[in-house]
Amino acid sequence: MAEPGSTELFASTEAAQEALRAVDYLADRKIASLVHLGSRLQKPILVEGPAGTGKTELAKSVARATDARLIRLQCYEGLDEAKALYEWDYRRQLLHIEIRGQREHSGDAVEIEHDLFDERFLLTRPLLEAIRSEEPVVLLIDEVDRLDVETEALLLEVLSDYQVSIPELGTVSARRIPTVFLTSNNSRDLSEALKRRCLYLHIDYPSSDREREIVLARVPGISQTLATAVARVIQSLRSLELKKKPSVSETLDWARTLTLLAVDEIDSELLVETLPVLLKNQSDIDLAAKELGGTQP
Ligand SMILES: Nc1ncnc2c1ncn2[C@@H]1O[C@H](COP(=O)(O)OP(=O)(O)OP(=O)(O)O)[C@@H](O)[C@H]1O
Ligand SMILES: [Mg+2]
Repeated sequence: MAEPGSTELFASTEAAQEALRAVDYLADRKIASLVHLGSRLQKPILVEGPAGTGKTELAKSVARATDARLIRLQCYEGLDEAKALYEWDYRRQLLHIEIRGQREHSGDAVEIEHDLFDERFLLTRPLLEAIRSEEPVVLLIDEVDRLDVETEALLLEVLSDYQVSIPELGTVSARRIPTVFLTSNNSRDLSEALKRRCLYLHIDYPSSDREREIVLARVPGISQTLATAVARVIQSLRSLELKKKPSVSETLDWARTLTLLAVDEIDSELLVETLPVLLKNQSDIDLAAKELGGTQP
């Protein structure tokens, strides 16, 4: 089993916040506090919230901040044990049997079988990879709400004991407990059992100040004035009754667009012209143009 305490990463909430800032991830106190607690308690963190608010990026940033290897399991409907945990490379196993058959002393059936279920023919997938890793690992189980219920149960097993049993090889236990993040867009409810094993972090759209900081950190060459204006306009947009509010990704795209256009302030004409970078529904664009741009659709 992994030694307890071996992967304690951040000494305090402030330390977590600082370390994340150093890799250009702007965490508010709630985010930093959960990251700190997760590392102290060695518990997975389930991160939920609207699209594009930095859920995936949080796990990537914790990996960067702690010099850990990032292992990502991208979830989708139909993802099964063979793609999440491990599978045997049957093509190479077949080839092996063929080659042995051509030799004179090819051995008996037991010997061949023993040979076939050898480490060499094992294809490790992200969960097993994370469990077996000698080096520190951040395991990102991304978009876990897309998993089928059976695969979710498998996940539960791995996250309970940090071990995987491979019938032909035996049980593999974690050498060190990985730092685990699960992200979800809340497309379906996750099982209570899975939630019970995790700390829960809801990331909402950032405050205007934090978004300004994010823009300054992520858009090279942007001026303070423009970053402030961008954050302010985005806040007003999010207060409208839109079908889909602009996410942080869209804020960054927009800020990059404005930087490319070499503007220093945002007038209503420029806003209306560049709205399609931010909003992806015509009715949202019309509403925003009317409310903020003073334009009739
Ligand atoms: N707090 C933050 N600090 C720095 N960058 C951020 C922050 N939050 C979001 N971003 C930026 O916003 C973009 C979107 O983030 P990310 O892909 O992590 O969103 P997400 O919540 O995983 O979205 P989805 O639900 O669509 O997968 C990234 O490019 C990231 O750089
Ligand atoms: Mg994501």
